[in-house]
Order: sequence, then C-alpha cells, then structure tokens
Amino acid sequence: MASFREQEKIELPPIAGKLFWLRKVDSTQLESRRLIDAGQKIPFVVLANSQTAGRGRFMRKWLSPPGGLYFSWATQFVPGSAVSLVAGIAVLSAIKKFCSGKIFLKWPNDILTDDGKVAGILAEKYDDALILGVGVNLVGAGEFPGLGIDPARKIDLLTEIFRQMDEIWEEFATGGFRKFVRRYLELTFPPGTPITIVDGRRTFSGVFENITPDGELVVRVGDKSLKFSAGEVSLKL
Ligand code: BTN
Repeated sequence: MASFREQEKIELPPIAGKLFWLRKVDSTQLESRRLIDAGQKIPFVVLANSQTAGRGRFMRKWLSPPGGLYFSWATQFVPGSAVSLVAGIAVLSAIKKFCSGKIFLKWPNDILTDDGKVAGILAEKYDDALILGVGVNLVGAGEFPGLGIDPARKIDLLTEIFRQMDEIWEEFATGGFRKFVRRYLELTFPPGTPITIVDGRRTFSGVFENITPDGELVVRVGDKSLKFSAGEVSLKL
C-alpha cells in the first residue's frame, strides 16, 4: 500500500473520474485493484510519481523512475481487444500535442520513436472494470529513450490524454472500433512495412497489410493474409 497520497486541485475531464495521486506505489494497476476491493466506484485514476513494481505486457517489468508519467484508469469494462488500440490513439494523439518528430503506434498499442519504445499501455479486466495502465517516458533514462517532454508538464499531458479519451471513448464503447480504423492507420507504420509477429510459440514474418474493424492485425505472409488478435510485433525498419 502506498505510504503517501497527494490530492491536489487538478481538474481532469469528467470521464477520468476521481484522481488519486501517489508519490510512490508498487504499481498503479495493483493500487487500482485494491481501491476497487475497498469499494471505490469507477471511474477513477491512480497517478504515481514513481513505481517500484511497474508491470508491462507479457508480465515484463516497466521501469518507473521519477520523471515519467505513470497512471491507471479504472472504468467500465468494454469487451474486445480493440480497447487497447483506441487507448493508443488517445495517448498518441495527446503526446503529439507536446512534441514533434516521428512518433507512431506499433500494434497493438506501443508508442515508438525511431529511438525505440517511449510509451506503453496495459489493458486488464478486474471485476466489472477495465484497468488501463499507461506509462510514458517523458524523458530518457539510461538506455531507455524518452520523448523530451518536460516532466513539469506531466499533468498537462494527463489532462490532454483524457480530453482525447473524452472525444472518442463513448463512440468506441457503443459503436466498436470500426470507425477508428482509419485514424489508427494514420498513426501507425505504413502498409507494406516488413514485420515479424510472435503469436504464442509461433513466429511469422511478412508485411503489414491492414487493421480489421475489430482491431486485428492483418499480415501478408507469403501468399496468405493472416489475422492476429494478440501477439508481439517487431519492425524490420
Ligand atoms: C507495455 O507496453 O508493456 C505496457 C506498459 C504499461 C506500464 C504502465 S505504467 C502505469 C501502469 N502501472 C503499471 O504497473 N503498469 C502500467
């Protein structure tokens, strides 16, 4: 449990819900689960200045030193894997208002610059809630690249992320991903890009072809178009 809890007068867009701002926590994902267990109503946001046990997809560690943006948003669960793609659209659209240069989505929801991954999103179901964890490297740390965004602008970025969420979430939750395919395609690498995808124990190499209305990745492998709803993509840029 966090030893310290800060609550400042921060006005996030109403879609975010109540804000819990912690100086340090094991993981904002875990703290969100504990809050739900303790009866906290969704939606809410847990923001931490640093995490001691930040987690990423595939049970990887997410290094979370002070200076990054680390938060979880607990909201009503929306079925389907496209949820993380929509979150990626919102987060990247917000980031683009704070820095220029080439920044793009790597399916399903990694955010990359030419230097490597700078932000990631973890979507988890807990009870009736969706807990969406977002980590953004505002500045680089050691071998990890950053976006070059002044950490003092962290709350501005958080607010912009929820502005973007506010614009798209309801439409997605009621109408599905179909309407967001074009916007996603504008934010990711172009069709024809050589990629490798690891899906469980199988690895496929081919070229990126498309994103389906359900958010699946379509890869051209030899003379076949294969669809993936999960997996890890590597780019051969
Ligand atoms: C990934 O790309 O693997 C997802 C990374 C998600 C990291 C964030 S940081 C805030 C939230 N708390 C966590 O423990 N993980 C997510």
